[in-house]
Amino acid sequence: MDDTLFPDTPRWEGDGTHRIPFVAYTDEALYRRELERFFYRGHWCYVGLEAEIPNPGDFKRTAIGERSVLMTRAADGTIHVVENVCAHRGMRFCRERHGNRQIFTCPYHQWSYAPDGALRNVPLRRGVRQDGEVLGGMPADFDLAQHGLTRLQVARRGGVVFAAFDPAVEPFEDYLGPEILRWFDRLFDGRRLVLLGYNRQRIPGNWKLMQENIKDPYHPGLLHTWFVTFGLWRADNRSQLRMDARHRHAAMISTRGAAGQAAQVTQVSSFKESMKLNDPSFLDIVPEPWWGGPTAVMTTIFPSVILQQQVNSVSTRHIQPRGPGSFDFVWTHFGFEDDSNEMTRRRLRQANLFGPAGFVSADDGEVIEFSQQAFESKPFHRTVAELGGREVGDTEHMVTETLIRGMYRYWREVMEA
Ligand code: FES
Ligand SMILES: [Fe+2]
Repeated sequence: MDDTLFPDTPRWEGDGTHRIPFVAYTDEALYRRELERFFYRGHWCYVGLEAEIPNPGDFKRTAIGERSVLMTRAADGTIHVVENVCAHRGMRFCRERHGNRQIFTCPYHQWSYAPDGALRNVPLRRGVRQDGEVLGGMPADFDLAQHGLTRLQVARRGGVVFAAFDPAVEPFEDYLGPEILRWFDRLFDGRRLVLLGYNRQRIPGNWKLMQENIKDPYHPGLLHTWFVTFGLWRADNRSQLRMDARHRHAAMISTRGAAGQAAQVTQVSSFKESMKLNDPSFLDIVPEPWWGGPTAVMTTIFPSVILQQQVNSVSTRHIQPRGPGSFDFVWTHFGFEDDSNEMTRRRLRQANLFGPAGFVSADDGEVIEFSQQAFESKPFHRTVAELGGREVGDTEHMVTETLIRGMYRYWREVMEA
């Protein structure tokens, strides 16, 4: 048996996924295969909200995997997603995060493109005229129509935009599957969305750790002092875990206040009895009809996004990997068109829980960073994800790592094929 301390392939225990090799988080070649198989082929990736580009000509620059893309709105209102790579000599031509323009011009040689990616103009295409002679220029058979930007497949649902480089990607609804689609539609039920703002952070850890963090309902009631102390998320809340048939996506569904007394959680060391809120309006939680009961639903759409409802705070969290040991994490906080001003303020106040310095989320960024440090120091080792058993399946409680095992079952299926 190969007993190297620096393996380049993961050694799994049988066909299980209850012990995850550290090397799955650190190896460059595996990481590139993940980009290829998850982000660039066969999967829908999150791009943004339609509300971010409400007017014709609006655009937003974002990323799918490590590839830069633009979500644009054409004059006729159609939404396009095109790759931010000039068709000429390959420059990443757009550097603004957001803007409005009818034509994108690459600064290098000023090739220009319509919002749908069509090449409109090539300067000096016909060369220059000197002493009655035409000098240089593109070949006579150069066809503008053959040299547009790479156009992605686009799926829109409930005001959310996903895209895929792969023309053979399955329909978005099939990609989510009926169970996850239900939770997607609960949040994005057709109401117009209103953009409230962004948080951005770079986390020095493998991108999968963020998916795992939101497939791990066991940690919030232990790691997060804030959740435990103010009772927003407890392991004994009434809850369900749901996955799609391939176990790549998941929903953690939790209903606050359905649990017993605090006795169980007061033994948890992160419970801080002395911690008090200076501003009680922070916990001014108002149930909304669309919740249909659950007070928190966290949905992971593999590989690129997390959909968050934590009481009145709703956001998308976009995962943009940058090498095996780092990813950018972009939070888009939003509300709904029919929100009162008071509700908008409430959503914004509660958003203080999240983001890089969030009362809760700051903890997650740190544990991901410290996990990655350990993984890189001894890639021959493995994690243990055996809470709730070694199998994979939906549950009616949260004391399980089944969603993590499920994601790695899918990971193995795709990566080992
Ligand atoms: S690289 Fe963009 S115009 Fe030449
Ligand atoms: Fe967390």
